[in-house]
Amino acid sequence: MTKANKIRITTNALNILSDFELNLDTANPETNKHAVKIIGYGEMSTVFIFKEKPLAGIAFKRMALFETEAEATYYEKLYLEYHEILSKIGIVTPDYGCHKVTSRQGKPVLYLSQKLLAPESICHKLIHTINIKEANTLLLKVLETMAKVVKYNAKNPGNEIGLDGQLSNWSFSLNKKDSLRYLDTSTPLMKKNGAEQLDANLFLRICPSMLVWVIKLFFLKDVVTRYYNFRLIIIDLIANLFKEKKQELIAPFLIIANTYLQKNYPQIKSITEKEIIAYYKEDALIWRIFLLFRKIERFFRTKILRRPYNLILPGKINR
Ligand SMILES: Nc1ncnc2c1ncn2[C@@H]1O[C@H](COP(=O)(O)OP(=O)(O)OP(=O)(O)O)[C@@H](O)[C@H]1O
Ligand SMILES: [Mg+2]
Repeated sequence: MTKANKIRITTNALNILSDFELNLDTANPETNKHAVKIIGYGEMSTVFIFKEKPLAGIAFKRMALFETEAEATYYEKLYLEYHEILSKIGIVTPDYGCHKVTSRQGKPVLYLSQKLLAPESICHKLIHTINIKEANTLLLKVLETMAKVVKYNAKNPGNEIGLDGQLSNWSFSLNKKDSLRYLDTSTPLMKKNGAEQLDANLFLRICPSMLVWVIKLFFLKDVVTRYYNFRLIIIDLIANLFKEKKQELIAPFLIIANTYLQKNYPQIKSITEKEIIAYYKEDALIWRIFLLFRKIERFFRTKILRRPYNLILPGKINR
């Protein structure tokens, strides 16, 4: 079976990463003396590719959420452990690694590396180039693969792992049966003896400070628990078809998903189109408000208080 390998980079390559970080303007990340291109924006991170040879062919995800060395080291440990579990249960990821540098403010920053995949193979792009029948095949493959986590979790109560099943987190090529890869491994959600191991405070750090208490009170638990619930993971995947402007797949995907659930997990209630629409409306609204507050905060901190702002914010996202 295919298995991911660890990526090791040369000292020269690490020096480039380190120099990139020291010269990084988080408001204009692509204007750096090291030529980079942004290939993905997440809520917590930004994905870069470098033009320079020693770093070519690798995608780097910048995680700048850590206040202390201990936090970064602990996160790295979870990240590696998460990969080991995925690999053990048969979910293949691209080759991966973790590289630590220091920010201008002296804080640890992790660059998570991954073998660079063809952009057209990432499934939110792929669905725009294939027909409905092929898209259904892809969905079934993703469901079967996610079911490996469901089985693992059922066998390890209290020690479950979470997964974010959105299409943008998978890569696949239709003519290669075993090519499905899970790439969003930077949120290593994992429980031990019932306790979440990933520090939710890391997530709170990206939150606009004005909203932290609201999020703590209302959303955080929901946001985290949804990644442990197969039904909610599927709802999230299908609802995101709105964002991907592929609404015409919603009806066929619901048929595939509900048939799959009925056959393999009859205890899980069928998913309705109404739920998908309601979920999407709520999710989109939350993230839109969230990003707006982050931008207000960045403005306030950098322009008014003249303090550094070390996070890169996504551009306009069409949801
Ligand atoms: N190895 C890779 N090869 C090619 N493209 C990638 C790779 N890793 C990430 N990307 C691109 O960047 C996007 C975001 O990556 P990923 O899903 O890992 O992070 P994320 O969703 O931004 O995570 P988070 O929200 O947790 O920060 C992907 O959907 C994909 O388009
Ligand atoms: Mg993702």
